[in-house]
Amino acid sequence: MTDKILIIGACGQIGTELTEALQKQVGLENVIASDLKFSPQLPEGTIFETLDALDQKGIFEIVKKHHVTQVYLLAALLSATAEKNPAFAWKLNMESLFHVLDLAKEKQIKKVYWPSSIAVFGPNTPKKNTPQFTIMEPSTVYGISKQAGERWCEYYFNKFGVDVRSLRYPGLVSWKSAPGGGTTDYAIHIFHEALKSGTYTCFLKEDTSLPMMYMPDAIRATMEIMNAPAENIKIRSSYNLSAISFNPLEIAAEIRKQIPEFSMKHFVDFRQQIADSWPGSINDDEARKNWGWNHKFTLEAMVSDMLQNLKKIILHNPL
Ligand code: NAD
Ligand code: SER
Repeated sequence: MTDKILIIGACGQIGTELTEALQKQVGLENVIASDLKFSPQLPEGTIFETLDALDQKGIFEIVKKHHVTQVYLLAALLSATAEKNPAFAWKLNMESLFHVLDLAKEKQIKKVYWPSSIAVFGPNTPKKNTPQFTIMEPSTVYGISKQAGERWCEYYFNKFGVDVRSLRYPGLVSWKSAPGGGTTDYAIHIFHEALKSGTYTCFLKEDTSLPMMYMPDAIRATMEIMNAPAENIKIRSSYNLSAISFNPLEIAAEIRKQIPEFSMKHFVDFRQQIADSWPGSINDDEARKNWGWNHKFTLEAMVSDMLQNLKKIILHNPL
């Protein structure tokens, strides 16, 4: 039987692209996109439901109405936004997860996808090639919520047999939709400003290296972990996932290969402290060994693809 998928938070940076990819995998009629409000960026013909991830009854009703078998929970406050409203970030990021895990515990759905983040690591974590199992001690409310979420995912798997799968995404770079308030968002803004004005003021220092990934790789990783046989998923908290690492200076140099006049300044804000608490590069041997993960995009290939696609969009929507 074909899976029926519900995506909660489908109109964000990841959801917009994941919705389309899942529709291609299981058919338009088998994917229900949901969010607080509709986005015209969703593919034409998308089945859409207005849904608040905090509304347990609402989630249950949509699961019943559409005979949903899998839930992808993407609704969350990201690192920078969460620091501005810690109490609400904790509420949203944790309660929504419990609603979905409980549905799986009660056998209303069969499988859950919930993303974690490199934000689970903290200032005492080894910075380079950060291992899967290491000191964590996150210092942001976002990171604390992701670490707690990971522990609860593992708990629900061990205690109740819930088939929950998770990835610790690095910063994701994409051109199709805007980022949602993270610390790694500079790596997207930089492309827009390079093309529009030829200059960018970065909120991180030039030598702040962070783990990053191009969205097509992240979408593929998500689908690969969800399609892998259950016995291959040895880690039920969340997998380290890695592709490329760079700092603002390095990405700017790569952009300059195509836009030689591009210049960058720095005006550091509170996000520097968040970035300083995160690793610079991640070791994802477990994901590669357990379910065959392999990234495709290098920094060079990502920059080239970003500029090519964004150019077309900016040309059609001049300010
Ligand atoms: P985003 O902010 O772009 O999208 C989140 C979506 O959730 C938005 O469309 C928003 O409207 C929706 N939403 C917010 N509150 C909601 C609610 N109460 N009910 C229903 N929908 C609600 O975020 P994203 O970048 O797409 O991230 C999705 C998930 O991936 C999050 O859990 C995030 O922590 C995780 N993640 C993202 C990145 C990244 O770089 N984008 C990296 C690591 C982890
Ligand atoms: N990209 C995300 C952020 O910066 C990491 O989870 O918040």
